[in-house]
Amino acid sequence: MSDTYADADAALDPTLQNVLDQTSLKWIFVGGKGGVGKTTCSCSLAVQLAAVRESVLIISTDPAHNLSDAFRQKFSKKPSLVSGFTNLYAMEVDPTPDLSEVEGLEGGGGFLADISTSIPGIDEAMSFAEVMKQVQSMDYSCIVFDTAPTGHTLRLLQFPTTLEKGLNKLMSLKESFGGMVSQVSRMLGPSMPGGEDMVDQLMGKVDQLKGVVEEVNAQFRNDELTTFVCVCIPEFLSLYETERLIQELAKFEIDSRNIVINQVIFPEEAGTSRLLQARIRMQQKYLDQFYDLYEDFHIVRLPLLEEEVRGPDAIRAFSENLIHPYKPAPPPPPSAGSNSLLEELQRKVQEQAARIAELEAQLAAARR
Ligand SMILES: Nc1ncnc2c1ncn2[C@@H]1O[C@H](COP(=O)(O)OP(=O)(O)O)[C@@H](O)[C@H]1O
Ligand SMILES: [Mg+2]
Repeated sequence: MSDTYADADAALDPTLQNVLDQTSLKWIFVGGKGGVGKTTCSCSLAVQLAAVRESVLIISTDPAHNLSDAFRQKFSKKPSLVSGFTNLYAMEVDPTPDLSEVEGLEGGGGFLADISTSIPGIDEAMSFAEVMKQVQSMDYSCIVFDTAPTGHTLRLLQFPTTLEKGLNKLMSLKESFGGMVSQVSRMLGPSMPGGEDMVDQLMGKVDQLKGVVEEVNAQFRNDELTTFVCVCIPEFLSLYETERLIQELAKFEIDSRNIVINQVIFPEEAGTSRLLQARIRMQQKYLDQFYDLYEDFHIVRLPLLEEEVRGPDAIRAFSENLIHPYKPAPPPPPSAGSNSLLEELQRKVQEQAARIAELEAQLAAARR
């Protein structure tokens, strides 16, 4: 039963081997709704990539910072080596930007924080640009993104527009205030350098970051360099969300051809549990729909484990399922099975014997 899908479409194999094989890939996004297993899958994929690529960096943009949980190792906003590896690095980026740290702006935090409230998303766009600038200068063979579940996963693709708007805003600010800009800036921040200088400096900075973002966005649209792996679970809402995500990716011209369906319960492992058997029937329904809808995708099924997937060893073991389709363990050997069957039958015979003895006693009493 579990092999129906593996055999169904011989054209596209049910693994992420294609991602490992395409050595031109530089940016690999892993995305989907919260709790489906994005972090588990992105870490697993990064581990597999580390085996075939020279150096791999995994970046989490999720405020929950769960790379640290997955690898059981504390990471920071600077890349650090994942223990047990020689070429796998991880960093956790704080999505709430600290603009006082935006490079090359002294005392700009207050002013920038102020204009950012009037240009939605500019703070986020600038901190993303800072990260990308840093990452691009670092020379990793490929970078895996464990994306945040909230909002639009692809909002970062609109960042050039956001920064463009920011530039226009600054321009009009400069024009309309003219010489008064210094007075305005004194009002906005106490420790600020000369107003007009400040605006020029800021415009220069935004312009430069806009360049960085435009460049990476162009790379994100190149399927030689970038692909997006969708992670989901076999349930109605997740199917629906995945379809939305895939349409959004198509709209932004981002390559996606892999869907990882996590937390699959395999019939061989349900035993006699009616709960599990019911869940399997439900999952089967959505699995069928995934296979119908995404014929031109590699669909990878990952097993629901009894335990969480935590620590480098667990991740390493789990990551194998991305490359070699999971096969449930064979059922217990027949000897064990017949033993328990024997015990069960003996128990039933004893029960029936007791019942017969009871009825015979009743019969004897009635005859008296
Ligand atoms: N197939 C699985 N079997 C068992 N536990 C899993 C599986 N996939 C993920 N988990 C666990 O579920 C929790 C959420 O997974 P995670 O990868 O952090 O999700 P996300 O990043 O999408 O929020 C983690 O504790 C993880 O260890
Ligand atoms: Mg996560």
